Amino acid sequence: MAKTDITTRILNVKLANPTILASGIMGVSGASCCYAAKNGAGAVVMKSIGPKEREGHNNPILVEFKGGFLNAVGLPNAGIDNSLGEVEFAMKNAGVPVIPSIFGGTKEEFGIVAEKMATLKPQLIEVNLSCPNTASDFGEAFSLSEKAAADVIRLVKNKTKIPVMAKLAPNVPDIKRIAKAVEEAGADAITATNTMPGMVIDIKTAKPILHNKSGGISGPALKPIAVKCVYDIHEAVEIPIVGVGGVTYGEDAVEMIMAGAAAVEIGTAIYYRGIDVFKKVSDEIKQFMEENGYSTIKEMVGKAHK
Ligand SMILES: Cc1cc2nc3c(=O)[nH]c(=O)nc-3n(C[C@H](O)[C@H](O)[C@H](O)COP(=O)(O)O)c2cc1C
Repeated sequence: MAKTDITTRILNVKLANPTILASGIMGVSGASCCYAAKNGAGAVVMKSIGPKEREGHNNPILVEFKGGFLNAVGLPNAGIDNSLGEVEFAMKNAGVPVIPSIFGGTKEEFGIVAEKMATLKPQLIEVNLSCPNTASDFGEAFSLSEKAAADVIRLVKNKTKIPVMAKLAPNVPDIKRIAKAVEEAGADAITATNTMPGMVIDIKTAKPILHNKSGGISGPALKPIAVKCVYDIHEAVEIPIVGVGGVTYGEDAVEMIMAGAAAVEIGTAIYYRGIDVFKKVSDEIKQFMEENGYSTIKEMVGKAHK
């Protein structure tokens, strides 16, 4: 039987395995991204960086519940001008592709951040159209509307030739329409998905636990939602998809891949399985492939549609 090959590709970017550090999970620092890479991540996405320094929300910003985590971190970051050094450090030292993530409060801000980020010439940029926790500052997430999402991608694509991955939100009536709109606007790939809005109430104090009251659900509870998003998007567009939401074990990654993802991002599972979750998930994917007669990742991409 042919040797099992777990390498994959997002456009022209080759990954040694399909696991990618998800944005925001290891903070903004280049060193922590390198740490994920040393522990087996095939690529790393950095914390989203915006136009200006931002403090984020007050504590508590994170709470665990039975199915995962709820967070409302509020996109704290040092702003693009103060962050380029960290991105550069990660790009020099990670030894795997480093994917910076950008956000803005207006489409023009996305354009400004994209243009500055592009000076570092990363292989890909993830465009975070979908943070659920900043509505009080920015209004609703861009990826809740076809027009708003497409306008941002079109502007970003005008400002840079670097391929962009549009990161979408799961809480929309029809994610196919949003996916098509960003593809038509020039997105080179889609990341699906960001967290799902949720709330946890402390019944002793009768108050929501998070300072922001609501937050974004990540971890196992998000997985079937994200799998359906990836499945639907695969039917709607031709561009590659990166699946994210609750991937904890190799079998979860295979499920995302069969729904249509070329690679998966992993965030919350670091909490459950440690930083070497990337290595563990990669080994489990390989084992699944060996036991089930698959020799390449490509053979499994979108298999659930066939
Ligand atoms: C603490 C925390 C911070 C996050 N920060 C960002 C961020 O800055 N940008 C972004 O696009 N997504 C952010 N996310 C969302 C994750 O990248 C990912 O889409 C989500 O957590 C689902 O994946 P998971 O279930 O593997 O964690 C954050 C998630 C968590 C839990």
